Amino acid sequence: MNVKYLYINTIGCQMNVYDSEQMAGHLALLGYQQTAFPEAADLIIVNTCTIREKAEQKAYSFLGRLARLKRKKKSLIIGIGGCVAQQDGKQILKRLPFVDIVFGTRAIHRLPDWIRQIEKKRCQIVDVELTEEVRADEPIIGWQGETQSSRFVTIMRGCDNYCAYCVVPFVRGREISRPPESIIKEIRSLVSHGVREVTLLGQNVNSYGKKEGLCSFAELLARIDGIEDLLRIRFTTSHPKDLDADLIGSYRHLKKLCRHIHLPVQSGSNQVLKQMNRKYSRELYLDKVSKLRDTSSNIAITSDIIVGFPGETDADFDATLNLVKQVQYDGLFAFKYSDRPNAPAVHYPDKVSESRKNERLQILLAMQDAITRKKNQALVGSIQEVLTDGLSKKEISSKLADGRQPLQATGRTFTNKIVNFYLDAQVESSGDIGTGNLLDVRIEKAFAHSLWGKPVLAQPTAKRVKGVDSYAA
Ligand code: 5AD
Ligand code: SF4
Repeated sequence: MNVKYLYINTIGCQMNVYDSEQMAGHLALLGYQQTAFPEAADLIIVNTCTIREKAEQKAYSFLGRLARLKRKKKSLIIGIGGCVAQQDGKQILKRLPFVDIVFGTRAIHRLPDWIRQIEKKRCQIVDVELTEEVRADEPIIGWQGETQSSRFVTIMRGCDNYCAYCVVPFVRGREISRPPESIIKEIRSLVSHGVREVTLLGQNVNSYGKKEGLCSFAELLARIDGIEDLLRIRFTTSHPKDLDADLIGSYRHLKKLCRHIHLPVQSGSNQVLKQMNRKYSRELYLDKVSKLRDTSSNIAITSDIIVGFPGETDADFDATLNLVKQVQYDGLFAFKYSDRPNAPAVHYPDKVSESRKNERLQILLAMQDAITRKKNQALVGSIQEVLTDGLSKKEISSKLADGRQPLQATGRTFTNKIVNFYLDAQVESSGDIGTGNLLDVRIEKAFAHSLWGKPVLAQPTAKRVKGVDSYAA
């Protein structure tokens, strides 16, 4: 089989990252190897996002730039997948006639057939059917070579919640869950390739399996917790309205479940929450936060907030600031409201001006920045267990005592905080630093978005895992 080159540009969320890996896995069977250079590619795929207007513009501007490559290399195949493809369908071919295939969010497994067809007989294909089938087929390992300590695993697709601002239900379709057996098989396979942490993905993991009568999400977590040589489990996202006692309880008894939850609040004002169709109140949200902290006192909580939703007044925004102050999040993703086609809020009156949205965003981010710094600062002097995730020689300018360039490594704590640390000769020779190992790190400095520390070898955690390559200097 001739080697052909594939370049994938992934825009957007973790689900798109997972989907791109699936595409790469499927296309490897047709002889496509991934390249980091679009100019070298025989097939270019843009996996797109449309959650906000900016993301959509990013996709179209990248696609626009591909016209030049196509003129130079007539055989080049260009595909657009993901949420913009699903949203705009065949309109894309009118706008960008050099595109060969437009495929939606539920067409990934059909991609190889379409590409084979295009290779044989040049034609344009549009496949944006939102099929409702549950796919229990074999998972595809979409990467070759390098060990990674952490991987995403999609456990369900779509969303049935219809928040008023959100395009997801329209571009990712109705909620469907994968059978637990298929998920577990995929995770076992990842673990056999050296993966030590998985992040389970779904728009609302709390409704996992409900429609299909599968096990509950808490039961799924318990089953995954039992997988040998897997060290950590994360998940995202849990909708506050559905966060139940079972899932909260999982933080008490599951050893591998990382003490972190992403629990998007979106707004601290009951009036705005109602308009957003979020189906919970500020009080209910705060109650769930207390229950989480009662169960696991050190649990890290992060959130998403939209500023400038139509009709949001100064008082509404103050209520959001007040909630952020009260909850003391470990991290926050804040967004300016963006009108999306199909989402009901596009028709809502009293749109907030761009300048006011900017102003509110800055105020909110500044408040959170101070909270995050304070929380990170409180960890200075503590010893954190870090799952190592790669090494780099790049960022440290000073040399070690023996004159060598130190290596910097990075990883995350059990509460999902990024820790960078350097490796002196003693640590390097200990053999405990390979990607996918747990290492105790004493935190020496705190920054806005990361921590800095030094591995502690005096009391090793002795959790080195068989089968993971250690780094050879
Ligand atoms: N405008 C701004 N932010 C949005 N999000 C979703 N839709 C929009 C929109 N139209 C944000 C929400 C969601 C996160 C993934 O993106 O906060 O939780
Ligand atoms: Fe969008 Fe709401 Fe579904 Fe999240 S829960 S994907 S915000 S509709």
